[in-house]
Amino acid sequence: SETYPEIKRNSKFAKLSQEHMQYFQELLGSGSAVLDGLSKDASEDIEPYNSDWMRKYRGHAKLVLKPGSTEEVSKILKYCNDNMLAVVPQGGNTGLVGGSVPVFDEIVINLQRMDKIRSFDEVSGILVADAGVILEVADNFLAEKKHIFPLDLGAKGSCQIGGNVATNAGGLRLLRYGSLHGNVLGIEAVLPDGTVVDDLLTLRKNNTGYDLKHLFIGGEGTIGIITGISILCPQRSAAVNVAYFGLESYEHAQKAFRAAKNQLSEILSAFEMMDGRTQKLLRTGAGKKLPLEGDHPFYCLIETSGSNTDHDSEKLQNFLEHVMEAEIVSDGVLAQDQTQIADLWSCREGVPEILGHWGGVYKYDLSLPIADLYDIVNDVRDRLTNAGLVGDDDSHPCIDVVGYGHMGDANLHLNIPVRRYDKEVEKQLEPFVYEWVQKKSGSISAEHGLGIAKKPYIGYSRSDTMIKLMRQIKDLYDPKGIMNPYKYI
Ligand code: FAD
Ligand code: MLT
Ligand code: ZN
Repeated sequence: SETYPEIKRNSKFAKLSQEHMQYFQELLGSGSAVLDGLSKDASEDIEPYNSDWMRKYRGHAKLVLKPGSTEEVSKILKYCNDNMLAVVPQGGNTGLVGGSVPVFDEIVINLQRMDKIRSFDEVSGILVADAGVILEVADNFLAEKKHIFPLDLGAKGSCQIGGNVATNAGGLRLLRYGSLHGNVLGIEAVLPDGTVVDDLLTLRKNNTGYDLKHLFIGGEGTIGIITGISILCPQRSAAVNVAYFGLESYEHAQKAFRAAKNQLSEILSAFEMMDGRTQKLLRTGAGKKLPLEGDHPFYCLIETSGSNTDHDSEKLQNFLEHVMEAEIVSDGVLAQDQTQIADLWSCREGVPEILGHWGGVYKYDLSLPIADLYDIVNDVRDRLTNAGLVGDDDSHPCIDVVGYGHMGDANLHLNIPVRRYDKEVEKQLEPFVYEWVQKKSGSISAEHGLGIAKKPYIGYSRSDTMIKLMRQIKDLYDPKGIMNPYKYI
């Protein structure tokens, strides 16, 4: 676990007392809505809320609160603000930048009890729901109504839609359905002083002044707590097909992407890339049987979603013939049924989990010009190899340097699976990776956010002016600074 020797607890924040505890217990009841680690030993119950999905970041909260309504969130925040108690909003705790766990003793406010679907309009496709609804639950509900949540990602079984909005998660189908900045139509949120921001509109068009909901989308819990969202959900496609290819080089992957856009155009719903190394780690680490024989340097997963099976099949057939004949892909497989679709997707969605399997993983989530996307993986591998840090045995901290990600959105996940976290590796990686990205005018966080992990590096992707403007917003909405302190802003 990582500690934060460079950060000091801010003494302006109060320490939790029995009096505070009594207030929260009276408000929420003494049942499971209050995990109290102050008056009784609840450290085991609290532990999962103090440590993140990667077990890399760990805080020391003594209190976890699980409000059941917006009104309760409002009362909690107002009390915390009046009493200088720092808080961390928490959804499914699947965030990858240490933003969802406390740094010191901040109170965790977890939204899991706010899990109601409020309404769904079958004509417009607009869903209104509590922030704590689990993404997969929302999507299963929508499936029954022949609709789809416009976001999908590997953590869908645990992450919450409020957490997704708070991180502005991108995921596997952004290429098709666009960013949450486009799909989210309204937000209900609570500011630190208890004010309920009642902007839960269900309008597609509304040009009446500043569109303030966007501050909460990707705000990472630094200005308020999202308690409800309204979101535009597309029709669920009747015909879904998935193909998985092996390719000779990243050049070939780019050609395949162009061919896919050209020939599959409106039915293309995902274009994901995995290098051969990640697929190999899936085989050796998780014992996964890969869909294709042999080793290929690159793999792509393509999904199409359309309304007419015959029309889609014909397009896909033409596309497959083209990429095979033109020798763009070396080998490929097309899923024949739902089970195979799930199996092909698991070659992509299983990657994050396996990379942490050997002890730890350094993760970089980068936006880069698509032509240069993979170069950084080679450069970082050369650098760490030359420093003697990558190898097959225990004397080397790094297992390998790999790349995968949402190629269709020019979003690369550069990952370094390690046997142990190691200062030598860190020195080689940073600021090298950030400087590399800056030179290409890329982004050091395409979709995971900044949290605490990327906090010192925001300047590689944002100018001083932009950071100053962000600071002003933070100070305006959270003047006492109780919301998710020590994080990116
Ligand atoms: P948490 O992790 O609990 O919180 C994340 C941040 O949002 C924290 O800063 C927290 O304070 C804040 N927050 C949470 N809820 C609220 C709220 N109601 N109001 C205000 N602030 C809040 N991300 C992608 O973009 N694309 C992917 O493809 C993707 N795949 C993933 C796959 C796996 C296996 C895992 C573990 C993570 C993945 N992620 C991905 C990262 C992560 O951002 C998402 O899992 C998800 O959006 C986080 O939601 P959550 O409910 O778990 O939020
Ligand atoms: C993904 O695309 O799999 C997620 O963003 C998680 C990760 O980067 O590992
Ligand atoms: Zn991703």
